[in-house]
Amino acid sequence: MNTPNNRVIIFDTTLRDGEQSPGASMNLDEKIRIASVLEEMGVDVIEAGFPIASDGDFEAVNEIAKIVKDSTVCGLARATKGDIERCADAIKPAKRGRIHTFISTSPLHMKYKLQMEPERVFEKVKESVTFARNFTDDVEWSAEDGSRTERDFLARCVEAAIASGARTINIPDTVGYTLPHEYADLISFLFNTVPNIDKAIISVHCHNDLGLAVANSLAAVGAGARQVECTINGLGERAGNAALEEIVMAMKTRQDLMPFTTGIISEDIMKASRLVSTVTGFTVQPNKAIVGKNAFAHESGIHQDGMLKHAGTYEIMTPESVGLTQSKLVLGKHSGRHAFKDKLKDLGYDLGDNAVEVAFKGFKDLADKKKDVFDEDIIALVDDQVIRTNDRLHLISLEILCGTKHKPPKSELELEIDGVVKSCKSTGDGPVDAAFNAVKALFPHGARLQLYQVHAVTGGTDAQAEVTVRLEEDGRTCIGQAADTDTMVASVKAYLNALNKLLVKREKSAPSALSA
Ligand code: KIV
Ligand code: ZN
Repeated sequence: MNTPNNRVIIFDTTLRDGEQSPGASMNLDEKIRIASVLEEMGVDVIEAGFPIASDGDFEAVNEIAKIVKDSTVCGLARATKGDIERCADAIKPAKRGRIHTFISTSPLHMKYKLQMEPERVFEKVKESVTFARNFTDDVEWSAEDGSRTERDFLARCVEAAIASGARTINIPDTVGYTLPHEYADLISFLFNTVPNIDKAIISVHCHNDLGLAVANSLAAVGAGARQVECTINGLGERAGNAALEEIVMAMKTRQDLMPFTTGIISEDIMKASRLVSTVTGFTVQPNKAIVGKNAFAHESGIHQDGMLKHAGTYEIMTPESVGLTQSKLVLGKHSGRHAFKDKLKDLGYDLGDNAVEVAFKGFKDLADKKKDVFDEDIIALVDDQVIRTNDRLHLISLEILCGTKHKPPKSELELEIDGVVKSCKSTGDGPVDAAFNAVKALFPHGARLQLYQVHAVTGGTDAQAEVTVRLEEDGRTCIGQAADTDTMVASVKAYLNALNKLLVKREKSAPSALSA
């Protein structure tokens, strides 16, 4: 990748490191949707998965490699032939494909995790990069736990990886331990020490255990790094990775001190953030920089007064620059298909005819129940419906009796299960419990409810409730989401959504366990 010296390559690892967050797993359709949004927003490299990790990961990298044309599609591989071959197979269809191979280089990791002598690790660096180069010219090498690696050993490994053909060298702060000045100093050390360093792009990959991932990444860019590995909403292992939106907007806003450019269309940031949050069920904290609900809200009188006089008094960037538009009253129950299609386009959806029809019917139903339909309602509705394909379980009807006169609360539920309609009655400690018990009675399963969360999509008592449910079964977790003006209907739909996803996962990992 030939770039001018002030151009920073944005390497997004939402689909790989981000997906490694406990509970954040995504299905193939969801990964493809995210990859398309990342490509559209100008991400240079999309790390789409770890192909050896599972058939699902392989398939995701492979499918994304077929679809994405403008971004490089990358797969992760440990320093073994098996991993690298699997990764090479997965990225084969890509217009531009990258193999990202890594091995730990810190004393702690080499001794306890790898149980290898440093000289063996050094040999593996050369072997793995050389082997990967048989499949593509675009090979990235990472020194896992690089920030805690002895400097001389790190410099030797970096030099050897470049000499073996790596075009990108990544120095991760795997455990989020480093500090900005220390990390910048490490990057400068490599620039001053490694003789062939000019033959590669230096990349950084920071975890957020001390809340310093973005600061560390930016400090490294100041010291010469020209690729930043990051994720949407800072998703990632433990405390997460550096947040893409923060890296991009910091550089854009502080051009005076950081005269760097990226290829990111910043106006697409909100769309990507919302999608990742919807798919993973990881809601963005309200005060999160750039994409939090309050990031551009001004509550105190003094601030509001200042804003009215000049927006620059309390705003260092505009909401529009990250794709935040005013909540708009969009369509009413008399709006036609054409206006609805235009609105979908405006909101960044590119749906096929069938999906538009399904969404339009959902919109009409919603407009019958709810006076004002806002952008957020349409987003919730489409996310709710587009995500659901090939589901085995569908809600047909639900009735709940609850309140002071109905103890215990009672539910009556009709589900379509593999094309057959079944019904039952149940009770529970509360209305949600009664409804979920009815699902369990109709479709017995061992999944445990780990999370149940409700929030209102917009203001007002007629707002749609958006429910998020997380289920866990044998170490596999799935997030389900649904929106409806009726909180109980949204709850059962979200529960079924999570269950449907879990069934897909079950089928993939254990073909014999097809039935519940
Ligand atoms: O955090 C890390 O070190 C990683 C590597 C695999 C790049 O994710
Ligand atoms: Zn990582």
